Amino acid sequence: MRRRTLGNTGIELPELVLGTWGLSGDGYGQVDEADQDQVIARALGLGIDAFDTSDAYAKGKMEERLGRLLADREGAVVITKIGTDRAASPPIKRFDAEYLREAANKSKERLGRRIDVLLLHNPSTVALDKPHVAETMKSLCEDGIARAWGVSMGDAAVGTRAVEQGAQVLELAFNAFHQQDLSGVLTLAREKQVGLIGRSALSHGLLCGQWPSTKQFPQGDHRRDRWTLDDFKKRISQLSALRPSVGGDIPSLRAAALRFALSEPALSAVVIGPRSAVQLDQLLREAGKEPPYLPEDSRNALIRRLENVGIHS
Ligand SMILES: NC(=O)c1ccc[n+]([C@@H]2O[C@H](COP(=O)([O-])OP(=O)(O)OC[C@H]3O[C@@H](n4cnc5c(N)ncnc54)[C@H](OP(=O)(O)O)[C@@H]3O)[C@@H](O)[C@H]2O)c1
Repeated sequence: MRRRTLGNTGIELPELVLGTWGLSGDGYGQVDEADQDQVIARALGLGIDAFDTSDAYAKGKMEERLGRLLADREGAVVITKIGTDRAASPPIKRFDAEYLREAANKSKERLGRRIDVLLLHNPSTVALDKPHVAETMKSLCEDGIARAWGVSMGDAAVGTRAVEQGAQVLELAFNAFHQQDLSGVLTLAREKQVGLIGRSALSHGLLCGQWPSTKQFPQGDHRRDRWTLDDFKKRISQLSALRPSVGGDIPSLRAAALRFALSEPALSAVVIGPRSAVQLDQLLREAGKEPPYLPEDSRNALIRRLENVGIHS
């Protein structure tokens, strides 16, 4: 597994990081505990020794699981996120200093190790404007709770504000269907040597191209409410822009989508979200072994086709 440097943090990440939201059973529906363990063990076996998680995933149980399974893996990297108070009903976003400090300490305890990258979980620009937020995150690093801090961002405005406040890392949705408005924040991050981690490379599975336009998602699957019926149909039709990328050593839409993210030079790593060992193996097999994951002319041609179907970068 090739590695890239994460901005100026001194942390090296494998190009693929294992995401644990879907795996935890949150978001997409239940995953057996034995399967969760199997995917994490398989990832380690394949050289993926970095994990993206949150104190919110399975209400902290995923952090506990990673703590147990990584106990003898000193070099493994854990990225976790705080800022959702699940003790409140319904859960609320909290970024006050007392809460952040307590949440970070609890995450560290569950993981049984110093946190490598501590991210604020989807804060608003209003939350980031409060000076105590960045100050608290910096002090958590100074106190050795975390090595580096950053923000898992919802939109470009949040990313820009986070960089202005001194965030060392940004995690952002990045895929062929979602690049809009990102160029400004990517440029700013490069100037400030902020590490960038891309997630949702498959747009939650949409870019695999395996769904009919009439696909229905079960209760408990976040995709049920993510798209309106019209929007969903439109997105399925927009996959036509991705299809010509398949061919040669790119065997599937899934491969093309993953390679699109991997070929973005601004990203240090791409967080993948397999929910089974079979999915993980498919992703690894199809990701390619080294650059160019998508040759520049193919990438540019894809971007032009995306623009032709209304998806702009
Ligand atoms: N705000 C945040 O901080 C935030 C938000 C989102 C994600 N994340 C992180 O990023 C990770 C990945 O995000 P994501 O879930 O949006 O990722 P994604 O890769 O875009 O989507 C994951 C979904 O893709 C499908 N998939 C994966 N491998 C497949 C394969 N080989 N063949 C066919 N389908 C496949 C699965 O759908 P099925 O379940 O239908 O099989 C899976 O649930 C998360 O686990 C989490 O760690 C963070």
